[in-house]
Amino acid sequence: MRIDIITVLPDLLRSPFEGSIMKRAIEKGLVEVHFHNLRDYTKQKQKSVDDYQFGGGAGMVMMIQPIDDCIAHLKSERQYDEIIYMTPDGETLNQQMANRMSSYENIIILCGHYKGVDQRVRDQFITKEISIGDYVLSGGELGALVLSDALIRLIPGVLSDETSALTDSFQDNLLAPPVYTRPADYNGWKVPDVLLSGHAAKIEKWREDMAYEHTKNRRPDLLDK
Ligand code: ADE
Repeated sequence: MRIDIITVLPDLLRSPFEGSIMKRAIEKGLVEVHFHNLRDYTKQKQKSVDDYQFGGGAGMVMMIQPIDDCIAHLKSERQYDEIIYMTPDGETLNQQMANRMSSYENIIILCGHYKGVDQRVRDQFITKEISIGDYVLSGGELGALVLSDALIRLIPGVLSDETSALTDSFQDNLLAPPVYTRPADYNGWKVPDVLLSGHAAKIEKWREDMAYEHTKNRRPDLLDK
């Protein structure tokens, strides 16, 4: 998968891709991530990428010209499965969307700022609008990172134990069961006996029951899906 991220803050984005699973995915050649600084595409003096909104009102709006030029440049080099705009009024990201998008070859993620982008950008170029939750961030960058991480870990070969993505919370609309590690007894707080039994079928059944219980208590809405 290739992810092209269009942003006014490329430096804010770099470090999460330089550690842990996203770094490994890049090193293994399973993912390429490229940052594109919108200021490199503006034809305005002073390199500005935003302007006052027509009709008046507080807050600047990101101009269409640099975004158009950047997207046109990228599209001239390859085809994209999706051109995504991160915005609080987009479709809320969930695991099903991440599963579907993790098979894409090329995506563009546009990060909004200020009051957002000129509506004509959304009308003309954007194929999908995604929110990472019902709250407003200062920009789309953190959302782009969340989306990238959610997709990258699902790409086959990225996680060393491939089944571990399948047992994540939200796969099958269930939250993950509790997990334990050594010691089996810490200050008298004990690990459930079944996990020490060595009985694979019983352990599997316990995990399924706990996942169901946990989901019923915390997110009963998931069980209705
Ligand atoms: N930009 C600002 N708020 C956002 C959100 N909640 N999700 C995605 N992008 C955003």
